[in-house]
Amino acid sequence: MRLNEEHHLKTITIGGDLTVHRIGLGTNRIRENEESRVLLLGAVERGIDFIDTADFYGHYATERMIGNTLAPYPKGLVIATKGGMVPGDNTWNGSPEYLQKALEGSLERLKLKRIDLYQLHRVDPRVPLKVTITFLKKMKDAGKIRHIGLSEVSVAQIEEARSIVDIVSVQNEYNIITRKHEDVVHYCDANKIAFLPYYPLGHGRVNLEDERILKLASNRKATVQQIALAWLLKRSPTMLPIPGTLTLKHLEENLQALKFELSDDEFKYLSEVSLPFSPSR
Ligand SMILES: NC(=O)c1ccc[n+]([C@@H]2O[C@H](COP(=O)([O-])OP(=O)(O)OC[C@H]3O[C@@H](n4cnc5c(N)ncnc54)[C@H](OP(=O)(O)O)[C@@H]3O)[C@@H](O)[C@H]2O)c1
Repeated sequence: MRLNEEHHLKTITIGGDLTVHRIGLGTNRIRENEESRVLLLGAVERGIDFIDTADFYGHYATERMIGNTLAPYPKGLVIATKGGMVPGDNTWNGSPEYLQKALEGSLERLKLKRIDLYQLHRVDPRVPLKVTITFLKKMKDAGKIRHIGLSEVSVAQIEEARSIVDIVSVQNEYNIITRKHEDVVHYCDANKIAFLPYYPLGHGRVNLEDERILKLASNRKATVQQIALAWLLKRSPTMLPIPGTLTLKHLEENLQALKFELSDDEFKYLSEVSLPFSPSR
């Protein structure tokens, strides 16, 4: 399957100049092996134009694999990466000294002169957000970053960051069964900020859930994963899900979700799915 005209309807323009389809590829399980090489090449061949990664994934291996497999990148392919979570250490570091090294490393591994979308992986509670964001702005002004995004943040944190520099995307956990960030989705929608729901398939758990999803999947002759993605796409025009997969079969199915249009009634019906996680959590 390749994306055709119909799929062009579901695009999003991030930061005013990065236009991509509203289904990207999450890569936290991509490693330096043949399976991942086939997946990455096949993904681009099938029309994936937004790849989300991080220096943290595979302790740098994922970025290295993307750079070694796909660079020089075809025109229009956006590689979004993240820094601020220390690979191999599971701690945050938002200090300018650390981020400077992290950014230089990502540029080198991804074989890029400038990163289209650099996302702060986590806010480091030990470093004032103002300090971290001011540094990222400096890197943007220096031409090493095109646009800045945030990950796992509150509305107040987004607002604080936006008072210093333009924030074009937010990547928080969100899917049909986990909606603790409803306020952030609403804020991004209202302010035209791309919202990249991570774990868009509930980290693979959506298939175990509510009978409403199963019923609608059966009615629409779709998989439960496609229904979960279609629900996200309908939730907000700024939504850009990044399902992670290692198989081209699943990747094709995920891309096909772009052509599913849920009706308002279907969306409402699905939105009443029983939530294992309370939205207030
Ligand atoms: N910002 C952050 O802090 C953060 C945290 C976590 C993740 N992320 C990002 O979010 C991305 C997505 O998260 P994730 O990959 O962990 O979770 P996910 O996308 O919610 O789910 C991935 C799981 O679903 C399966 N899957 C994918 N497509 C499928 C399909 N069409 N049918 C059936 N199963 C399917 C995958 O297995 P198969 O390989 O068998 O398809 C995998 O087990 C990550 O890759 C990463 O880029 C960001």
